[in-house]
Amino acid sequence: MTEETPTRVDMEKIVSLCRRRGFIFPSSEIYGGLSSCWDYGPLGVELKRNVKEAWWRAMVQERDDMVGLDTSILMHPQTWAASGHLEGFADPLVECKDCHLRWRSDELEGDRCPSCGGELTEPRMFNLMFKTFMGPVEDEASVVYLRPETAQGMFVNFQNVLNTTRKRLPFGIAQIGKSFRNEITTGNFIFRSREFEQMEIEFFVKPGTDSEWFNYWLEQRLNWYVKLGIKRENLRLREHGKEELSHYSRRTVDINYLFPMGWSELEGVANRGDFDLVQHAKYSGKSLEYFDDETKEHFLPYIIEPSAGVDRSVLAVLCDAYDEEADKEEIRVLLHLHPSLAPFKVAVLPLSRRENLVKFAKEIYADLRQCWVVSYDDAQSIGRRYRRQDEIGTPFCVTIDFQSLEDKQVTIRERDSMNQIRVPRAELQKTLEAKLEGERFDTQPLWTTKG
Ligand code: GAP
Repeated sequence: MTEETPTRVDMEKIVSLCRRRGFIFPSSEIYGGLSSCWDYGPLGVELKRNVKEAWWRAMVQERDDMVGLDTSILMHPQTWAASGHLEGFADPLVECKDCHLRWRSDELEGDRCPSCGGELTEPRMFNLMFKTFMGPVEDEASVVYLRPETAQGMFVNFQNVLNTTRKRLPFGIAQIGKSFRNEITTGNFIFRSREFEQMEIEFFVKPGTDSEWFNYWLEQRLNWYVKLGIKRENLRLREHGKEELSHYSRRTVDINYLFPMGWSELEGVANRGDFDLVQHAKYSGKSLEYFDDETKEHFLPYIIEPSAGVDRSVLAVLCDAYDEEADKEEIRVLLHLHPSLAPFKVAVLPLSRRENLVKFAKEIYADLRQCWVVSYDDAQSIGRRYRRQDEIGTPFCVTIDFQSLEDKQVTIRERDSMNQIRVPRAELQKTLEAKLEGERFDTQPLWTTKG
């Protein structure tokens, strides 16, 4: 693979790896699955958690102009009237008069059913919000919606955050959480599903400084993906044309990734102006104005919104990390995952199941687990075990052999280069820590081989 050319992996290979190794399963699979819903398995849950932690760390923990929030999925129904979702969050839908399958009319080529060729109904608007009822009575008065974005929870808490944190402009609110959309067209694995997670920032700025902040956030967000190891050439910016801007947006630029099905949206950065605060002030009757102590002005801040999908980030990370290498007569499948994202940071592998070796290996395993999520594997040949760890992106394997019992040294093997170094057991943790932080693997090797 060259550095400059965008590379695209086959989606089937990703789906198969995820299924086989326990990253992602179809939801309720024993009942035949539930369309466009997915369950994250033992490795998937770690990967997803690491993606969210990396975002939280960079966007909240390491900044002093951001606070976090975790708002409820069910919100007052007026929220959705104010946000425009009740009226405008809809796609045009047609139904086949013969097979009754439904299609998005704006995505159809031709005027017949793509499945059976039957005649289609006239398009009607279909709202994408999931509706349910709150309390025991199922009537119009008890209708509530599952949120289609996490953003609204942050707008309606703007004053609460101001009052409790004494933050001054510019500052942001960040949230990670589930969102639900009754998408008509789903597919491409976890790319578009009906239940998904978002990582959203609402960044409040003084009107007039919004263009500058928009550019700042676009750059920050693009760099975040690159820092996590996604190849720059697989990322692209796409400016929305005037006609495709959402009702709330003054400007939107998508960060697109070269997914297996082609360039598609990974994240959207929007300049929402004061649309949301105006609307919520109007519908709630509460003032959402900000008072600037320096200029003594009251005004509604503008909002810059970088809105990312957790599941799409996981998919992009997996696609970008996937690699196949010719290895003797086999193919070595490996995930070049950034160490901070890898489900297991380290795997502990005793060369045999001999009692004294296992005891030593288990001690090391117990120690390392205090620091990281670590795997222990003693089944089959060492070569096979290395391949198993390569395939799930484990950056380092620690091998304990018979000599280890005598010289109290162990072997660390690196995933990408397959280089090995031997270190004293007493220095193992410190060495791994440095290597996981990005220290070159070939510095001060005691000895180096391939394996
Ligand atoms: N608050 C703005 C907002 O929600 P959006 O472009 O509709 O904007 C933001 O969604 C991000 O959420 C998208 O870039 C995508 O990563 C993710 N997303 C949206 N719909 C999704 C779906 N059906 N399945 C998975 N991810 C989705």
